[in-house]
Amino acid sequence: MNKSANPFRPGAGHTPPYLAGREAEKRIFERLLRQEVVTENLVLSGLRGSGKTVLLDSLKHLAMEQGWLWTGTDINESASIDEANLATRLCADLAIKTSSIVVSEKQTLAPGFTSESRTLRQGLGFEALKSVFAETPGLPLDKLKAAVEFGWNALESSGSGIRGIIFAYDEAQNLSDHAEKDRFPLTLLLDAFQSMQRKGLPLMLALAGLPTLYPKLVDSRTYAERMFRSVFLESLSEPETRDAILKPIEGNDQITLGNETAGAIVRMSGGYPYFIQFICREVYDAFTIRLDKGRKGRVPVREIEEKLDSDFFSGRWSRATDRQRELLSVIASLEHCENEFGVSEIVEKSKEASVRPFSASNVSQMLTALAAQGLLYRNRFGKHTFAVPLFGAFIRRQAERV
Ligand SMILES: Nc1ncnc2c1ncn2[C@@H]1O[C@H](COP(=O)(O)OP(=O)(O)OP(=O)(O)O)[C@@H](O)[C@H]1O
Ligand SMILES: [Mg+2]
Repeated sequence: MNKSANPFRPGAGHTPPYLAGREAEKRIFERLLRQEVVTENLVLSGLRGSGKTVLLDSLKHLAMEQGWLWTGTDINESASIDEANLATRLCADLAIKTSSIVVSEKQTLAPGFTSESRTLRQGLGFEALKSVFAETPGLPLDKLKAAVEFGWNALESSGSGIRGIIFAYDEAQNLSDHAEKDRFPLTLLLDAFQSMQRKGLPLMLALAGLPTLYPKLVDSRTYAERMFRSVFLESLSEPETRDAILKPIEGNDQITLGNETAGAIVRMSGGYPYFIQFICREVYDAFTIRLDKGRKGRVPVREIEEKLDSDFFSGRWSRATDRQRELLSVIASLEHCENEFGVSEIVEKSKEASVRPFSASNVSQMLTALAAQGLLYRNRFGKHTFAVPLFGAFIRRQAERV
């Protein structure tokens, strides 16, 4: 690689130059991979930019090393419309793994004026799995189980020594039941895996998504609490953050970041992976320019904050109304706003602020609206948390600017 090329990679799902930390999470997953009979599945949740997608990718490699097949994709709204869409999704993902298994062979004449014959081989593709689904009598649950079991049995008897299959779905917070329309795709997914696992089939779910994911699973089926090992991705610790900053430039003879610079990046990023990559990319560029001019590197804190505000935060902020912004500013003035907050402390704090005070019912209605807009989320204990990290500090900066 060109030594002066910037190695840092801010962006959704971009593999970082060095994946720091996450050792405990990998060990939990390795334990799940060792299950004789699969009873526990993985749910990986965290705020935006906490590193779910790239961790899922490295778990894929761990699983494959242990002889598991890995399939799946991002869950978009359409997979979650109804039971049939979800079944199509699963059959399509399974077919990727089964399509090389030959289920029928036919001798036919080769094309042209020749007496040579050739063998037509048909693999177990999507159409074949979907027809097992269609032809099995009963409910969507029976049909889906029949199709997936059929695929698994074919894989197992193809003698390839496969340990099992992992169905991995990112952005899985998009999975939803729609009771008002009598559609239950999420329940179908849980029921199907629970039932197939009870029969001893080595199929495992690995779901990743925003913090709303796990409560959603448990709301859908209470047994989901026992069915999933829930792993929440926190920000990286200080030593891990330092690794994420410094390892990618080890051996780079053009740029060195001193202790103080690394410390400044640790503080600014709060250990959140996306921010680490973003800030490091900016610092790297700034240092390269200054060194080119023969000057010492300096962390352009103010400029980076401004860029981060306009690239990352302001799109979210612009979705809020004036009154919602007032409420968010009150929340941002709470000491523990980056953790969680409740209605009564917001009401109390609003009395000290120079805004029209908020009543408790005002606050709870507005929190619900802000959660629907994706700015907050409600945790299982009825408290709220910002949906993006370091949002409180951004809001305070906004107040300083006006
Ligand atoms: N452990 C890590 N060490 C260093 N960088 C990381 C780490 N995890 C993630 N990153 C970087 O952080 C950024 C965000 O990662 P990723 O897209 O996986 O987050 P995410 O949680 O899936 O976000 P979203 O909720 O938006 O889907 C990427 O630029 C990635 O390279
Ligand atoms: Mg992601």
